[in-house]
Amino acid sequence: YSLLAHNTFGIDAKCKRFLEYSSVEEAQLIVAGLTAADQPLLILGGGSNLLLTGDYQGTVLHSAIKGIEVLENGDLAAAEHDDALLNPDWVFLNCGSGEVFDDVVAYAVEHDFYGAENLSIIPGEVGASAIQNIGAYGVEAKDIIYKVEAVEIATGKLVVFDNQDCQYSYRQSKFKHEWRDQYLVTHVIYRLKKTYAPDLDYGNIRASLAAKNIEHPTARQLRDVIIEIRNAKLPDPKVQGNAGSFFMNPIVEKAKYDALAALYPGMPHYTIDEEHEKIPAGWMIDQCGWKGKSLGRAGVHDKQALVLVNRGGATGEEIVNLCETIRKDVKQKFGIDIHPEVNVK
Ligand code: EPU
Repeated sequence: YSLLAHNTFGIDAKCKRFLEYSSVEEAQLIVAGLTAADQPLLILGGGSNLLLTGDYQGTVLHSAIKGIEVLENGDLAAAEHDDALLNPDWVFLNCGSGEVFDDVVAYAVEHDFYGAENLSIIPGEVGASAIQNIGAYGVEAKDIIYKVEAVEIATGKLVVFDNQDCQYSYRQSKFKHEWRDQYLVTHVIYRLKKTYAPDLDYGNIRASLAAKNIEHPTARQLRDVIIEIRNAKLPDPKVQGNAGSFFMNPIVEKAKYDALAALYPGMPHYTIDEEHEKIPAGWMIDQCGWKGKSLGRAGVHDKQALVLVNRGGATGEEIVNLCETIRKDVKQKFGIDIHPEVNVK
């Protein structure tokens, strides 16, 4: 079974078995039928955060569970025995894990449910939003996730985790660590707001709005400007294979940051807390001179050095080779280890 249509890097790899489920019951039937021959499992979303380095030796599982449904606050409050959920400012959206994440954002914006605007056109599906805690422009999935429903692979049991259980932090969750490969996410309930409180603080959002003479954007205008900013920086996977940011931005100790900031005045950074700063890996890769360069058929995007691209027919190995070369250079120049955000399989 070819995975070419299932990874945005455009790698032509195959797997032995590809299983898809469109309901919780089908997911439960599938996990009940798995045998040792299916191992190792690969739980795939939109394939927008995946680098295949060869044919996949196990079974690939994919959710095709659809649906975007507004839950009644009253019903939810009764089911959860929690009157706080009656808050009229909250809207709960129950979404199938196989739904395209941006369709949820578009739906929310259209219906005047707020809080997801800054996550506009992030590629991928709902299930992955809860696993990776996707984020952009100052907002993360964890800010809008209320609950995550999943099928436990070992038992077929349906479990529901609340936001706290998932231990979210920057691009991290328990699903990537202790719970790795143990659950198939079936639904995510997002909690949005009826009061609009746009977050315009990140990077060049305000400047981009100002260029259009917009000071107080509507949610639609904010979504449009985010789409414009992303499209200007990030390559379209349909035109050039890529998986968005290839690396995570490293979080370093304040002392390390201070030392670098003294060497590189104006170095961009985001304060995490009193002791930690996040430094954009894209900036460091750019400083190493990699922006727009290539190694074989693998390249570094010319508008955003954090994005590695397939210049046409690249193998997963070629991309890994470029990744490792870049990591070495960044380590040498800045003394910082950077790690792929992309799942390398
Ligand atoms: N920069 C450079 N050169 C570059 C790239 C970046 O100097 O080649 C500088 C920029 O000028 C800016 C800073 O680095 O000062 C940060 O760049 P940017 O705002 O583009 O964001 P990022 O930190 O590179 C992260 C996310 C993106 C997300 C943007 C916006 C990660 C791994 N990536 O990128 O997410 O869209 O912020 O919020 O956190 C993704 O995960 O696939 C993704 C695209």
